[in-house]
Amino acid sequence: MYDLHAHILPGIDDGPRTNIESLELIFAAYRNGIKTLVATPHMKDVNEKRSVKYAQELLNSLKNKVKNLNIDISLKMGMENHLISETPMMFEVGKSLTINETKFALIELPFFGYPNYVDDALSELQNIGLVPVLAHPERIELIQKNPMKLEYFVQKGMISQVTAGSLIGQFGSEVKFFAEMLVRNDLAHVIATDCHRPFGRRAPNLDVGYQAAARLIGKSKAKILVEGNPKSIINGNYGGH
Ligand SMILES: [Fe+2]
Repeated sequence: MYDLHAHILPGIDDGPRTNIESLELIFAAYRNGIKTLVATPHMKDVNEKRSVKYAQELLNSLKNKVKNLNIDISLKMGMENHLISETPMMFEVGKSLTINETKFALIELPFFGYPNYVDDALSELQNIGLVPVLAHPERIELIQKNPMKLEYFVQKGMISQVTAGSLIGQFGSEVKFFAEMLVRNDLAHVIATDCHRPFGRRAPNLDVGYQAAARLIGKSKAKILVEGNPKSIINGNYGGH
């Protein structure tokens, strides 16, 4: 499986706190059946506390450590970019990053409210050639209040990433119900873990997401959400939906 939303870099955001915890998380992901992990530290933390260069160095150092573990898991660079009116400019100046240097960009909409810049900023991202991958829309109030809005974004070519934990109730029953509705209605193109810790509620449990989706839409369709689609996004050749 391929996980395109994972907080695996140590000490840079609210993900793992130490190198050891990062390695434990990566090993847990490997045991879960994940073959490729995209490191997606929060844009705000990277730029305010450190720098993109520092985040890349952290990833390179993790890659070297993983080599010594002798496990077959590949680590790629990405970023979780929260949407503010400046986000398109942040990409242009290299302070925001896409997934593995492709045109696909993990974008986190504001959790609450519906600031008036949202639609314009998303259009601007598309205008500069990027394809927004919307992080966990099931946890975003503006989408919860108006699911048609997600359908509209998807029709405009954006991608919807549901979080595995949402499908098993880790963010409450309402989020679970909403996530299931998205999966049933072809409004989830990718399931990712959004993992933060090796164990517990924010562990890299992509398999539980796959199993939950398989119960809703069958194994072969569920597999596309954890393998086919995220793989082609990470490789930069996802053809749309
Ligand atoms: Fe995240």
